Amino acid sequence: MSTNEPIYLDHAATTPMRQEVLESMLPYFTHMFGNPSSVHRFGRDAKTALTAARDSLAQRLGCSPNELVFTSGGTESDNLALFGAASAAGAGRRKIVTTAVEHHAVLHAAEELERLGFEVVYAPVDETGRVDLAALEAAIDDKTAVVSVMFGNNEVGTLQPIEAIGELARRRGAAFHVDAVQALGHVPIDLAALPVDLMSFSAHKINGPKGVGLLYASRRLKLHARAFGGPQERGRRAGTENVAGAVGFAKAAELACADIERRSAELAALREAMLTTFERLLPPGAFVVNGHPTERLPHILNVSFPGASTDTALMNLDLDGVAAASGSACASGSLEPSHVLRAMGADDARLRSAIRFSFGEGNCLKSVTFAAEKTATVVKRLAYK
Ligand SMILES: Cc1ncc(COP(=O)(O)O)c(C=O)c1O
Repeated sequence: MSTNEPIYLDHAATTPMRQEVLESMLPYFTHMFGNPSSVHRFGRDAKTALTAARDSLAQRLGCSPNELVFTSGGTESDNLALFGAASAAGAGRRKIVTTAVEHHAVLHAAEELERLGFEVVYAPVDETGRVDLAALEAAIDDKTAVVSVMFGNNEVGTLQPIEAIGELARRRGAAFHVDAVQALGHVPIDLAALPVDLMSFSAHKINGPKGVGLLYASRRLKLHARAFGGPQERGRRAGTENVAGAVGFAKAAELACADIERRSAELAALREAMLTTFERLLPPGAFVVNGHPTERLPHILNVSFPGASTDTALMNLDLDGVAAASGSACASGSLEPSHVLRAMGADDARLRSAIRFSFGEGNCLKSVTFAAEKTATVVKRLAYK
């Protein structure tokens, strides 16, 4: 394999769009350009496509089409869930319960709610990134408006016990929101069987287009809008719909959710190949895996290489044609260490040397092994000078 062919190992940040997805969207940029709210044939064609996209996603996720709100992405879905459910909960429920390892779309929304007078409790996690259920149970009470816990973590891949948390929230009458942006397409999701009221998704993480997301909002739940204007999305999100984006999202979900088991096994094999290569080429103790050993997303591998600083290692890897990340997109490019690893109790050496490799479309055993060999060389150069 030649070194001038870059290897993309940052699929948790975003993914390349699939050709079939692009093709499904193209008509809605050209001759099918109508506004779904228009009554003429152009509008009706757009509306038909939007309805078909919603129906397809609803069927795939196990909910009713009316329970899906198209948004501009995972960030907007998280914000609409937290603000919309907190605002609708009423004066008696002024508390938000979440975890210390959520994506900033949830954490920063929670901070804003705190400024608006809500009490926010951040439940701790253990050293693998799993939330402390006893702490969550103690925090959720009759004053809790929303409990927000992610399905799988975007930095370390750890899965949370969603069903158990949902039961805790139900018992207290609190709305339960789950950020499933990283989980979609990697673990089966059946909303009909989950004790969840709100769930966020994003198309660009599953080889779909950027700028389109989805919020599942159960019909049992009251949700206040955040954007006001037209009656689109049943009054929950005003604004002319992103028809091409919705069509692309439905196509991407169809492809991502087919055959999850086989594709997850393939991704897990890539992860294993990387770890085996590190074991072969690096001395004992030269690397440590961050995250849960079994309860984890298949496409994310977070490793610390004590002694090799994250930023320098990433720059060196980029020069060698390997694109990896430090974890959350916001943290990369700055020296701010990861809030997720910090919450997991990682020491300074581990915090400052963590690299997230995330796998997907276009990766194969050969390219991942090659990337792991490059990584081992860079780490040896930086940590054992
Ligand atoms: C867990 C999680 N939530 C939310 C988001 C935000 O999604 P979007 O980029 O579609 O706004 C991301 C993206 O990094 C994510 O990984």
